[in-house]
Amino acid sequence: MKILVATEKPFAPVAVKGIKEVIEGAGHELVLVEKGTKADMIAAVKDCAGLIVRSDKVDKEVMDAAPELKVVVRAGAGYDNIDLAEATAHGICVMNTPGQNSNAVAELVFGMLVTLVRNRYNGTSGTELKGKTLGIHAFGQVGRNVARIAEGFGMSVSALDPWVKDEDMIAAGVKPVHSVEELYSNNQYVSLHIPATSETRGSVNQALIELLPKNGVLINTARKEVIDEAGLKAALESRADLRYVADVKPDIADELVAAMPERVLFTPKKMGAQTAEANINAGLAAARQVVEHLANGFNRFQVNK
Ligand code: 3PG
Repeated sequence: MKILVATEKPFAPVAVKGIKEVIEGAGHELVLVEKGTKADMIAAVKDCAGLIVRSDKVDKEVMDAAPELKVVVRAGAGYDNIDLAEATAHGICVMNTPGQNSNAVAELVFGMLVTLVRNRYNGTSGTELKGKTLGIHAFGQVGRNVARIAEGFGMSVSALDPWVKDEDMIAAGVKPVHSVEELYSNNQYVSLHIPATSETRGSVNQALIELLPKNGVLINTARKEVIDEAGLKAALESRADLRYVADVKPDIADELVAAMPERVLFTPKKMGAQTAEANINAGLAAARQVVEHLANGFNRFQVNK
């Protein structure tokens, strides 16, 4: 059977090599479409039984074009790019690969924070992270890695996550908090790790951002959709001490950079999971899950049940 790997942002060559080995080792054929458009994906998927993507959109149009498609694996954590209802209607199993790229995202949080607080290495004196407060908004796999690394920096860490027990956070060296208001009011740095869902879209708004204490920094390596961009802009305009860092550029990025170049920091492209290790972990897990699903219906990480 044919398995399509369609990634606008390509995996590292070493990961592609491993994915090919897994797919061919199971007697299937790899079809690779890198840096392609949606039209390229649609053209390539028509006779494929499996599809592996990253943040690439998989919607009705793609599924209608793929009568043989049985399984889609999002090589990564967030699956807001996949229309789950359509997949279910088409009889397609959708899975993600939880945890496989979370360390890479967590390391970038600190890479970006250090770049910001050291004034982009422009020769002036910056500040340190040691002794500062960090609030982790959602304590999933990325949040846990952020907490682990923050401990090494000597930060004081709190987290909010209604799905995680207080004792689990305490065991990880993190202070549990129980409301967004508490999280944003009491931490100079807040790192976002919530998924983009109908409940979270636009939920990080002006009122919440303005709760941050003096010299507050909001860092978003999750999804741009969780931010209310008009509210973000208003908060940054009304509070000259606030800063915003994101690996998921807002639509208003150019406007913010022009207006307050020192107070915002964006990667040119979403780079959180873009390491050889994360690509290998997530890419190979995805390939194995597709192969197993086609062989015996494996569905452990199915998200459209
Ligand atoms: C994820 O949800 O796994 C991360 O946001 C990484 O996304 P990417 O594979 O598009 O880089």
